[in-house]
Amino acid sequence: MPGRTEEQLATTGALSLGTARIWPPVVLAPMAGVTNRAFRELCASFGGGLYIAEMVSARALRHGDQKSWTSYVDFGPSESIRSLQLYATDPSDVAEAVRALVDQDRVDHLDLNFGCPAPKITRRGGGAAIPLKPRLLAAIVHAAVSNAGAVPVTVKCRIGLNDELLTYRTVGRVAEEEGCAWVALHGRTAVQLYGGAADWAPIAELKASCSIPVLGNGDIFTAEDALRLRDRTGCDGVVVGRGCLGRPWLFADLDRAFRGEAIAEPPSFATVMEVIGRHIDLLMQTKPEAFALRDFRKHLSWYAKGYALGIDVRRRLAMVSTRRDLEVVLAQLDPTARPAPGSERLPRAKSSAQAHVALPAGYLDHLDDDQPPCAHDHDGVSGG
Ligand SMILES: Cc1cc2nc3c(=O)[nH]c(=O)nc-3n(C[C@H](O)[C@H](O)[C@H](O)COP(=O)(O)O)c2cc1C
Repeated sequence: MPGRTEEQLATTGALSLGTARIWPPVVLAPMAGVTNRAFRELCASFGGGLYIAEMVSARALRHGDQKSWTSYVDFGPSESIRSLQLYATDPSDVAEAVRALVDQDRVDHLDLNFGCPAPKITRRGGGAAIPLKPRLLAAIVHAAVSNAGAVPVTVKCRIGLNDELLTYRTVGRVAEEEGCAWVALHGRTAVQLYGGAADWAPIAELKASCSIPVLGNGDIFTAEDALRLRDRTGCDGVVVGRGCLGRPWLFADLDRAFRGEAIAEPPSFATVMEVIGRHIDLLMQTKPEAFALRDFRKHLSWYAKGYALGIDVRRRLAMVSTRRDLEVVLAQLDPTARPAPGSERLPRAKSSAQAHVALPAGYLDHLDDDQPPCAHDHDGVSGG
């Protein structure tokens, strides 16, 4: 977009979220076990956008679960938009949790999860199971919006449960009617998990029919992918998940791409090592060393993807248990190494193909009711 000023770009292409403007229109996808405070702060250091925390159970918050309130509702001083994703099956849990979060001034944005395919969530009727019951879906969204005051609420969903039970149109309609700031759509059904290619056509269809902004999600591994998704679907913004795992500099590429600037070459391993150092330092600010290193091993495997490091080094990276261990292993690596072309698309985190999606017994028999399933189950599951 040559010739346009930064201000013009921001006013024409920015996402509105309450009184905030998100520019570029890029969102870090909520990822359980990944998008904690350290990871968000690291990603945000590379570029503009919105960085959403891991999902947390509204029921766990309602019942005062300590871990949920301290580990998941946890934002750093640099996070100007404290963005949290809730999951719930019961509107009353949402109402209570949202009221507490807002009364205690703990969040600036709330996203609602209607796409999670994990058995421990769908078995209780949560995540991707909710939109199958439009009245229950509407009650949950209403409970969030009506208790959120000035805090904007958004929703995130998949295309549906499977090819026969598509739900994205329902989610778009409910989000629109209930006053959500946007709907984000991942172009897969729940049974597809993360396998195959995301289908962007429903994103285009939703964009064409919805009066609120639509964000596209699925298979953005490069900045070019993001522009392609925007151009093909007309979506108002993009949500980036696995593409940034071990590659937080993707947010710098996205920032440049949305400004119409050239994208930098993939980093040498020297840069990767510097980023690894910053990442573990951030993690150790919030967690004890042993815990931080254990949590960090998966990130190390993602940082190492695409670089010719050898099986022995990978094994040692998978076993580091102190910051010092990590430095010793990294010091032996070639800082000039470059990633193999195309390695940004290598599987990271979840990549499995089709799976059966577990639902509560008889769930599909009463799709017109608005009653939450598992009403007596008080186990909130936070962090996915
Ligand atoms: C490790 C992992 C954890 C995830 N956890 C969540 C979650 O808590 N909430 C959610 O809405 N989606 C979750 N997702 C789905 C992502 O937000 C995103 O929709 C999905 O990965 C597709 O985007 P991608 O192709 O860019 O990865 C998770 C995905 C991964 C890989």
